[in-house]
Amino acid sequence: MCGIVGYLGNRQAVPVLLDGLRRLEYRGYDSAGVAIVNPQGLAVVRAVGKLDNLTQATTDEPLVGCLGIGHTRWATHGRPNQRNAHPHRSGPIAVVHNGIIENHLELKAQLIASGVKFESDTDTEIVAHLVDQHWSKLTDVGKAEERLLQAVQLSLAQLRGAYALAILCEEAPDALIVAKNASPLVLGIGNEEVICASDIPALLNYTRDVIFLEDGEVALLTRGAVNIKDSSGNAVERSPQRIAWSPVQAEKGGYKHFMLKEIFEQPRAIEDTLRGRFSLETGEVVASELGIPVEIARNVDRVYFVACGTSYHASLAGRHWIEQLARLPSQAELASEVRYRAPVFTERDLIVAVSQSGETADTLAAVQSAQAQGAKVLALTNVLDSAIARIADGAFYTHAGPEIGVASTKAFTTQLVAMLLLATFLVQEREVLSKDASKKILGDLVEVPSLMRRCLSIRSEVQDVAKRWHQTEHMLFLGRGLGFPLALEGALKLKEISYAHAEGYAAGEMKHGPIALIDEEMPVVVIAPQDSNYEKTLSNLQEVKARDGQVLAIATEGDQQMKSLTEDIMVIPNCSELVMPLLASVPLQLLAYYTADFKGTDVDQPRNLAKTVTVE
Ligand code: AGP
Repeated sequence: MCGIVGYLGNRQAVPVLLDGLRRLEYRGYDSAGVAIVNPQGLAVVRAVGKLDNLTQATTDEPLVGCLGIGHTRWATHGRPNQRNAHPHRSGPIAVVHNGIIENHLELKAQLIASGVKFESDTDTEIVAHLVDQHWSKLTDVGKAEERLLQAVQLSLAQLRGAYALAILCEEAPDALIVAKNASPLVLGIGNEEVICASDIPALLNYTRDVIFLEDGEVALLTRGAVNIKDSSGNAVERSPQRIAWSPVQAEKGGYKHFMLKEIFEQPRAIEDTLRGRFSLETGEVVASELGIPVEIARNVDRVYFVACGTSYHASLAGRHWIEQLARLPSQAELASEVRYRAPVFTERDLIVAVSQSGETADTLAAVQSAQAQGAKVLALTNVLDSAIARIADGAFYTHAGPEIGVASTKAFTTQLVAMLLLATFLVQEREVLSKDASKKILGDLVEVPSLMRRCLSIRSEVQDVAKRWHQTEHMLFLGRGLGFPLALEGALKLKEISYAHAEGYAAGEMKHGPIALIDEEMPVVVIAPQDSNYEKTLSNLQEVKARDGQVLAIATEGDQQMKSLTEDIMVIPNCSELVMPLLASVPLQLLAYYTADFKGTDVDQPRNLAKTVTVE
């Protein structure tokens, strides 16, 4: 999400910024801009769309100067248009930002009350105004760089949320300030020059010596020095480290493929999707963040998910949570089927259109048919202002950041998170469970990122399983309850990137047909965490073994019984049953990934597939 570049040195800043932004294009963006300081003052140029538009704008209006900041924006708050593009300016201050300021509404109200006029719908503009206000008051601080640093530190103390910020001031031409909390920022140290960016590829043309800023830190960058302070204002000493990656490796964060990088980004993507959406103290989900008016939530009779592919699998889990927690009738339907049936919708139906891209043609058509019958539609998507979000009555955005790999990974798990939040919101508005029960669900969700990091740490065990089985031509996936959508998703992941034939089944359906496939050649992935379905799933597993089938188990850490049954075991940490699908997704994704990697298929762009399916 969003790319930041900043430069201070002896070169012209604009070409460095544009080159850096181009190397961050993989992060996805819908608009871009630069701000430059020179003896004439501060100049800002912004353009909607591709970087070529910004390049053209900076050619039409040449910007001279050796201090600048640049940004590619992937919209989260406010439509993707020129006024919302960064940099944002207030008086002598210009700011670029990656992240989400959680308390932006509260701060905006305070700033408006103090007479500030806003020019954009972004949360970022708040930062520019705050720094400007502090800057104006700090007239007794002599040195401009020190004054700017203090103005930023005072502003940061007022912010809650995630940010990587680069800030400059036309009255401090030898200073670039950067700050980081939960969003990435790296500093490149050159000879008499510094460059900062969201990611390493933007720096590699200028230097290989980098310093990673840590959460809560702020740094004053000048031509010859980097002065880092922690959140309490104490000086931090950190030496640069040398990066050996090639530019292409760097774009993938050192991972071999975007898919693997995206699998590993999941804990962060989930944190971003949860941030600012509820209070753990009160157990309340913030209605405005979910895009559903409270009256709709209170009066809905049925929640009806429509989606395709992986988003459909997420919807099957969503249906489960809506029924179980909110006690509402719920359905999950393939959009490509719904649109050609004669489905019956009512005005008291809530249609949840789930689509990471927000552009899928079948999902869009299903939404239109539901709307024609008066049903209310909520878009659950990762892309702000996408086609489905625009036509829906409300939009609930996952904040996974752009997904480059065709196989959906972090978009899937953030959809699951959003659905659990949606179920909790319906619980709250319909008063079906106690506040303590809501707090428990939210508390379980908060635990997910750290539990998921533990799942990711067993990557080599999953790689070993994939090594043993990557030549298989068929694989069966079985799961029960919330394990069933995962069985479907595990099979889809495997087939789309490794081209092996894979099928997902509800474990209870085994005896109704698929058991005929079992022989010593057939590997069966059984999703068997120690949940309320454990005993029954274990029986299915025994049935596979009794027919000489080969079992690959996704099991709970420490499950000795499972260990005695198979050596192909991929463990997940002990967790609440509700969030199990989030954790069990990880070994399934890694199994598909390593199988494909051993086979040497094109993991990020598998044959015949497109990332966004805008035709039926
Ligand atoms: C997932 O790995 C697939 N690439 C595909 O099934 C995808 O989920 C489907 O095309 C739906 O896309 P959407 O979420 O953008 O609507």
